Amino acid sequence: MSKPLNRVFSGVQPTGNLHLGNYLGAIKRFVELQNSHECIYCVVDMHAITVWQDPAELRQSTREVTATFIACGIDPAKHIVFNQSQVQEHAELAWVFNCVARMGWLNRMTQFKEKAGKHKENASVGLFAYPALMAADILVYRATHVPVGDDQKQHLELSRDIAQKFNVDFEASIAEAGFEDGFFPLPEPLITGHATRVMSFRDGNNKMSKSDPSDMSRINLTDDADAIAKKIRKAKTDPEPLPGDTDGFEGRPEAENLVGIFAALQDSSPQDVLNTYGGGQFSGLKSDLADLAVEKLGPIGAETARLIADPGHIDAVLKDGAERARAIAEPIMRDVKKIVGFVGG
Ligand code: TRP
Repeated sequence: MSKPLNRVFSGVQPTGNLHLGNYLGAIKRFVELQNSHECIYCVVDMHAITVWQDPAELRQSTREVTATFIACGIDPAKHIVFNQSQVQEHAELAWVFNCVARMGWLNRMTQFKEKAGKHKENASVGLFAYPALMAADILVYRATHVPVGDDQKQHLELSRDIAQKFNVDFEASIAEAGFEDGFFPLPEPLITGHATRVMSFRDGNNKMSKSDPSDMSRINLTDDADAIAKKIRKAKTDPEPLPGDTDGFEGRPEAENLVGIFAALQDSSPQDVLNTYGGGQFSGLKSDLADLAVEKLGPIGAETARLIADPGHIDAVLKDGAERARAIAEPIMRDVKKIVGFVGG
């Protein structure tokens, strides 16, 4: 049996506002991949509840992420956009993967250590098992490529380990079911370009994050033109002029961040940006960056707001996407059950 080539899967958690880091690190790439791949983009509400979520806020965020996807240019008719909990096969395969993954593997996950912090005993079991669900998300479609930010690289490696171990543990059964070289593909990460890591506007050593208490630290995709311009104008800098080449970013994370964002927004490289702004003051760069950011992000915010005003339409998009996703996942899960030895048809 043949495996689909070039199927892209990625997920975004519906936990609060999306910001510039989500856009440049993930969504912009999702949009581009639509030209070359069959894409499945998932709002991962089941991942979100690994940490307690207010139900009304979870609903709202799920719709907001969906609206933002569409406003950024993801086409839910040509590709698939849906929320995870509407396709039961994610949870089913996750259970099988919980039994394939080893405690030792999950114990090494740095994100769990960071999120659970000092209160490991009090973290949910779901937070610990989260990477097995993530592997199920990808592999229930036998997706081959996964665009992710570099913070998810370790989880993707774990997905590969799970796929590999499943293929080995059930080798005979997989062959018996008629699959030639392994059942699951080993999914490849597609790590994004220059501004993959967008840093906080208050501190260039920390990632731009929705959980930062200061709203000035980030550009939300729902910010209007005035807010975008103001946040860029007030972004932290250092007193030196901008360097002439990228070696000069050493020890200057704020300069690197603003130049990186500029480059990503105009699809050039940091060196290109420095060819224009190197040797100059931050103020010139910031003023042009503000114009560029307003030009690129302003319409996204406006379109997102327009879409959110009609939640019925968003829910219909998700339902349609879930049905099409299930059409792919269901036969794959049926094969998994057969391979594992579950009785039934
Ligand atoms: N863990 C990812 C994040 O927090 C979200 C995610 C869930 C995901 N499932 C996925 C990303 C599958 C890529 C593929 O960003």
